[in-house]
Amino acid sequence: MLDSHCHWNDDTLYPERNEIFKRAVEAGVTTFLVVGWDVASSKKAIEIAHEFPGVYAAVGIHPENLEGCDDHSLEEIRRLSFDPKVIAIGEIGLDYHWFSEETERQKQQTWFIRQIALANERNLPISIHARDASQDTYDILVEHRPNAGAVLHCYSGSPEMEERFAKLGLYFGFDGPITYKNAANPKAAVQACPLDRILTETDCPYLSPVPYRGQRNESSHIVEILNAMASLKGIPPKAMEENVANNFMNLFHVKL
Ligand code: NI
Repeated sequence: MLDSHCHWNDDTLYPERNEIFKRAVEAGVTTFLVVGWDVASSKKAIEIAHEFPGVYAAVGIHPENLEGCDDHSLEEIRRLSFDPKVIAIGEIGLDYHWFSEETERQKQQTWFIRQIALANERNLPISIHARDASQDTYDILVEHRPNAGAVLHCYSGSPEMEERFAKLGLYFGFDGPITYKNAANPKAAVQACPLDRILTETDCPYLSPVPYRGQRNESSHIVEILNAMASLKGIPPKAMEENVANNFMNLFHVKL
């Protein structure tokens, strides 16, 4: 099994990463993508990736972390992207949830586009964070195609938008919310997702699945997410596991 989006570089998980890795491997989760959200967390993701087998890194600047970012920050991300353990640029994208001002949203768009260009220059796929910004995310991806592929991380948008994103060749990552009893949107999104585009992720320390909801999340909980995904799709967990592994290899060009 694999966790295609996790934050062991977060302060709440970093000091315990040895135990987190061990518990995950014991649960059968053996591949991990640790994702950065700014320059410092991207460096930490690389550091962690070099400590453990099966751990990879994504480097990038998240739309909520743009304050103080300048050309030098982008150059740092570019420099980090040359590390052999880096397999993606992310997480990058648009988050309009807390940002209602047009100038702020434009700044996010500019940085999203700049980092897609970087990913294309480096021939790396991107991990996208899109919150309350489906249409603008779509429009940017149409105009600035990520040439090496892309995943919409923690997808919970409408099945209609999902179909349009799928037509662009995007992958979709699903997390704990697909196990929540009343989470109709994430469940519908899994059901509408093409099997060859689906990925498991925890986004830990956030979004713990049932029965750990409300507690700190960690990568061993992929088991609950994979099982929920398999049952929503009506296929055996083992078949879903193999399917997700193939998708991960196709998107990130990593041999598992
Ligand atoms: Ni994340």
